[in-house]
Amino acid sequence: MSASGRVTPEASVSLQRINSDTLHEILALSVSEDQKAFVASNERSIAEAHFDEGAWFRAIYADETPVGFALLHDESLCEQPRQQGYCFLWRLMIDQRFQRMGFGRRGVRLVIAHVKSRPDVKSLHTSWRRGEGSAQGFYEKLGFRETGEDEDGEVHAVLDL
Ligand SMILES: CC(C)(COP(=O)(O)OP(=O)(O)OC[C@H]1O[C@@H](n2cnc3c(N)ncnc32)[C@H](O)[C@@H]1OP(=O)(O)O)[C@@H](O)C(=O)NCCC(=O)NCCS
Repeated sequence: MSASGRVTPEASVSLQRINSDTLHEILALSVSEDQKAFVASNERSIAEAHFDEGAWFRAIYADETPVGFALLHDESLCEQPRQQGYCFLWRLMIDQRFQRMGFGRRGVRLVIAHVKSRPDVKSLHTSWRRGEGSAQGFYEKLGFRETGEDEDGEVHAVLDL
């Protein structure tokens, strides 16, 4: 944070566990109205994560300020992994007030560092929806490449690590 208390792109970015003290500020983070078609609310993501034994999620912080949220499905956390080393970046959001400051990219790079520490992981998968405001360009700049499209029109992509 700057001396004036504002979040600046120079802030230090970290991934932090969510606890009962911070839950409500993470739930309050939101994308803009026209981005809501691209990502579920954090409320929904955290609820869904509790019913997926492969879920791993963190809040993204810029210094002391929560700015976003990332949810991963890490198959190696499952008792009986179906696919060795499979990791899927399931949800990612940066609150509308803090977008275009580099926090999304730096947050994903921290997720990638975590994923690289997991057993047998050689790639990170993700998906996005096409359309005005899609995260496609964001992911392509990080090096993800399209692998196909599912029946719902969701683009699937992979980043080799
Ligand atoms: C996609 C999202 C996470 C990007 O976060 P962000 O913090 O704004 O992105 P960054 O500032 O780190 O941007 C990194 C680079 O990607 C570019 N970028 C960011 N969003 C972009 C978009 N929607 N389309 C194309 N490029 C984009 C930036 O311009 C920047 O490029 P540059 O360094 O060449 O200038 C954020 O816009 C968001 O939460 N969107 C709504 C939810 C969503 O679509 N989530 C992903 C699908 S699950």
